[in-house]
Amino acid sequence: MSGGERSEPVGENGAGPDADRGSASGSDEWTGERVLVTGGASFIGSHLVEDLVAAGADVRVADDLSSGSMAFLSAVEDRVEFVEGNLKRRSVADEATRGMDTVFHLAADHGGRGYIANYPANCTTNMALSNTVFESAVQNGAERICFASSACVYPTDVQQERRRLREDMVSFEERGGAYADETYGWAKLMGELSLQAFHEQYGVDASAVRIFTAYGPRENETHAIIALLAKAYAGQDPFRIWGDGGQTRNFTYVKDITRALRLAAENVTDATPVNAGISEYVSIDEAAEAIFEQLDWYPEERDYLTDKPVGVRHRAADTTRAEELLGWEPEYDLADGIERTVEWYTNNRDRDYVRENLETLLHER
Ligand SMILES: NC(=O)c1ccc[n+]([C@@H]2O[C@H](COP(=O)([O-])OP(=O)(O)OC[C@H]3O[C@@H](n4cnc5c(N)ncnc54)[C@H](O)[C@@H]3O)[C@@H](O)[C@H]2O)c1
Repeated sequence: MSGGERSEPVGENGAGPDADRGSASGSDEWTGERVLVTGGASFIGSHLVEDLVAAGADVRVADDLSSGSMAFLSAVEDRVEFVEGNLKRRSVADEATRGMDTVFHLAADHGGRGYIANYPANCTTNMALSNTVFESAVQNGAERICFASSACVYPTDVQQERRRLREDMVSFEERGGAYADETYGWAKLMGELSLQAFHEQYGVDASAVRIFTAYGPRENETHAIIALLAKAYAGQDPFRIWGDGGQTRNFTYVKDITRALRLAAENVTDATPVNAGISEYVSIDEAAEAIFEQLDWYPEERDYLTDKPVGVRHRAADTTRAEELLGWEPEYDLADGIERTVEWYTNNRDRDYVRENLETLLHER
């Protein structure tokens, strides 16, 4: 695994610029609930842990820190229990799931497009990881499991044009009903299938959230927004953009994602998958512009690297099911989210460190 090769960035603190927005879901659903967050020391996981602690839950985090960091939990470290270890090992999964009511399963071998293209075998190990966590959770009496799935479960061919992705575009019942994005996407899809089976066989409440391109404080540079931000912060000129800049993603602010995870656990019991992602298409060029504007720095020239892995051409979510089942819609628009992310990045990353380590940061999670 590549995570250990990278030296720790400076001062990745917790609180960040989101303290002003409500993080609890408005119900007392979580008060006193014993909740495990696997992968809770990750970018998304650490935000979810903060939200759950704020909502009154007793939170345990299990993580092997292969890409996550204890520093991400600094805002809540005195209020969460931590189990360090590889959850593919049954003994670790048992220790982590023992005594838990709810399990949010976010641990995964994962990174941005460059990572999943270069480490396909690592990504397949997520099948074993998810199965071990689900089996151990059920045998230890957990009542509900919420799984962090991904937009990468969707067929790649329909994403060459602008067609919003609907949950029923993937089917386990129809012949040829699935065509996921790389081994990472197939492993997430198998995680969904496995969770459905655990629900059917054992009656555990189950939900799966198909997370679309998340961004925000604590994300690393293998993902598009932070990669663009790192290059701009380092003053890269000519400014290098992977692909031709016209490929789109529906960049979704991390706090909208964590709210969807909580709402899914609260409202879905039968493993019906739900999208969490905005429905707008944002091109990489537009995202870069928003970052330049925020930093008030503009490159003289741009260099488009069309030989780099860029994934599907267009990706945005149909949010109908999320609205219907979860009452969820995004609260943060791109300008707001980018402003918060840039503020966090420039306050927590040393410019010289980013400049000197840029290539490693972009490729190794
Ligand atoms: N970031 C996104 O845009 C996005 C999109 C779709 C889905 N997701 C999913 O959301 C979850 C969180 O992703 P993220 O982007 O916040 O960061 P991430 O992918 O780095 O998080 C994974 C976490 O799991 C931990 N981990 C990995 N293997 C483990 C193992 N065997 N045992 C214990 N812990 C292990 C890592 O240390 C890390 O903290 C992942 O499941 C990811 O697949 C993320």
